Parts: sequence; C-alpha cells; structure tokens
Amino acid sequence: MNHFATKTLAGVAVATATIFSVTPAVAQEAKLKVGLMLPATGTFADLGSATTNGFKLFVSENGGKLAGREVEYFTVDDESDPSRAVENANKLVKRDKVDVLVGTVHSGVALAMAKVARESKTLLIVPNAGADEITGPLCAPNIFRTSFSNWQPAYAMGKVLADRKVQRVVTLTWNYLAGQQYVEGFKESFEKSGGKIIKQMTLNFPDVEFQAQLTEIAAMKPDAVYVFFAGAGATKFVRDYAAAGLNKTIPLYASGFLTEGNLESMGAAGQGLLTTLHYGDGIKNAKNDAFRQSYAKSYKRQPDVYAVQGYDSAQLLLAGLNAVKGDTTKREEMIKAMETAQIDSPRGRFTLSKAHNPVQDIYLRKSTGNENQVVDVAIKGLADPARGCKM
Ligand code: BEZ
Repeated sequence: MNHFATKTLAGVAVATATIFSVTPAVAQEAKLKVGLMLPATGTFADLGSATTNGFKLFVSENGGKLAGREVEYFTVDDESDPSRAVENANKLVKRDKVDVLVGTVHSGVALAMAKVARESKTLLIVPNAGADEITGPLCAPNIFRTSFSNWQPAYAMGKVLADRKVQRVVTLTWNYLAGQQYVEGFKESFEKSGGKIIKQMTLNFPDVEFQAQLTEIAAMKPDAVYVFFAGAGATKFVRDYAAAGLNKTIPLYASGFLTEGNLESMGAAGQGLLTTLHYGDGIKNAKNDAFRQSYAKSYKRQPDVYAVQGYDSAQLLLAGLNAVKGDTTKREEMIKAMETAQIDSPRGRFTLSKAHNPVQDIYLRKSTGNENQVVDVAIKGLADPARGCKM
C-alpha cells in the first residue's frame, strides 16, 4: 500500500469515526426547538401567559435545558382564532421547524393544530384545550394532552348536581366546540340520574353581553344554572350574574375554568361558587407546595390550573427526552416513554390513558377568598371514554 493510500485510508477511518461518534452527539447537542402556540391577546390571553410561565418555569428549574439540550422558544399568538390556526401552526412547523409543538387553550384552534401535527408527524403536546376529538377520533401516537378532555370536568359536575337532587337546570355557554362539549358531558351524567336540562342557552364566542340570557333565566326560575366560561369573559359573566341579583336566588355551578385565575377580579361576586376541576388551591402534596412557592417567586403571583398544565407539559416532554438522551430522532422510544410516564404533577400524580389523556381525580371546589379550595373529590381516577380513538 503506498503512502497516499495509507493516508487516504487513515483519513477515511478518521472521517468514519467522526461521522459515527459525532452525528448522534450533534442531534443531542443542537438546541431543542419548542414552538409555543398560545393566545397572547383576547379573552384567553391570561390563560396563554400562565401556560407559558408554567412551561418555562420547569425548564428554568432544569437550568434552561431538557435532557442536556438547551431549549429555544418560538412563539405565535393564536388569538384563539380557529380560522387562522392552520397557518399559525405551520409558521412553527414549516418555517421554524420546531421539534415539538405546544398548544393551545381554545378547542377549535387545537383541532386544527392536531390536524397539522397528524399530517406533519410533529410531536404535539396540548397543555389546555379540552376538545374531546384530540384524544378521540383525532388521537395519534405523536399527540399528547396534559390537561383534560372537556368531557371530564363536565361529566363530574353533572354527577355532583344529580347527587344533590337538583332537578331543573338551565345551561349557558359560548357557542363553540368547548362550550358544546361542556353541556354534552354535563347532560350525560345529570340526565342519566333523573335531572332535566330545561333550556340550553348560548352566545357567540367571545361575546360578553349576557343581559338577554340573564333576563330569561330570571323568568324561568330553574333550580340551578350550569355554565362554561373562562378567562376575562368569565369574570364579566359572574359579575353580571351577581349584579342581576341572581346569585341570591339561583345557584350557579360551572367547570372550574369559570373561577381559575379570576377570583381577584370577580371580587365579592365570585365568592362561594362550586366548580369541578382537576386542580384546586388547597391540594396538599410536596410537589404542589414546591411548585406554588417557585411560581410565586418567579412571577410574583399565584399559579392557577393553566400554569400547572404548562409545567406538566414540560415534565412530560422531559420524560420522553430522558429516555432517548435528548435524541428526538429516536421517535418510537421517546413516545413509549411519554406514554408510560407517571407525571408528578402539582395536581397529584397522574398517568395517561391509551389515547394520551390524563387519568385523574376531578375535585369539587368552593371559591373562598382568592382560592378555589378543594371540598371533595367529585370522581376519583376519571378516564375520558376516548370515543372513536383508534391507535
Ligand atoms: C377550550 O376551548 O377547550 C377551553 C378554553 C378555556 C378553558 C378550558 C377549555
């Protein structure tokens, strides 16, 4: 073998070694691109910012890295607008080429994100939106949810009212996917036990002129009113309900989103409300104590369920990344680890169903001061039925 050949072979050997030893390291050393698609404006703006805070808190508690990879954020304000959702999701997927898409709050926007994720095979973690379809007919190996399905808190509240022998109920919500599903889930458990919904009222999302509906409720005199509202619109509703004097005569029940993050702005009108949710301020566990302290220190405010869900989305992502030492190209292994993860959440430890939705306790809470205090467990270990999910 001549000198040139020896040198060339040696060069090949070095190059080969370089390729084999460096390629995986490069994948693991590159920044991890996280696309946050959340509302930064509109009635759900505070929900989007609490979700972002929760996610970033977990990452900063881990030194700004997940499984050794520095996290780089790409953000889009989805404005809770379904008509722009595909375009917005594609800004993150196609333009920014994110490794993982995290979002969103609004069910209609989340449906579009799920479709983009299914087509592009991008990993999607839904930190709030409860659209039943996401862990139902649209379920997929690369789609996970760390929050709830709309069915879960709704079904639990229907059971609470049925157990309390409430009989004639009026429902009121925004007329969009989540609102419809909050009424359906409630109706399923409530009517099964003999209750009756005497009228289902709606107004367009995100309208906040409630006067016509409040006047009709006063005239109908139901035993109770059940609503789904969230964010700034929820505060306006509760204040209007009290201003109309209805809080003195007709008990108001809701999924917990009504009061989450809103008790300060609701003032006296928000006191004593019973709601169902998978989180409550008084939950006693070491994780919740540490989380609340850390969140308050970082953001100078108390966390709410949206902050918890953002935090848990980052925890779930880390569970996947740890299993592959940060190498997101090992997709199947990463997904398996996420599917089998036990998330040590401030809400209490939870696992995911086959459809990738949390199996979790749903609490009955009562608003007291600035807290949604847990008064009971409405349903323990509630799993969404995952209707239509084929995985
Ligand atoms: C939803 O659209 O799924 C949703 C929005 C706010 C709070 C809870 C659910």
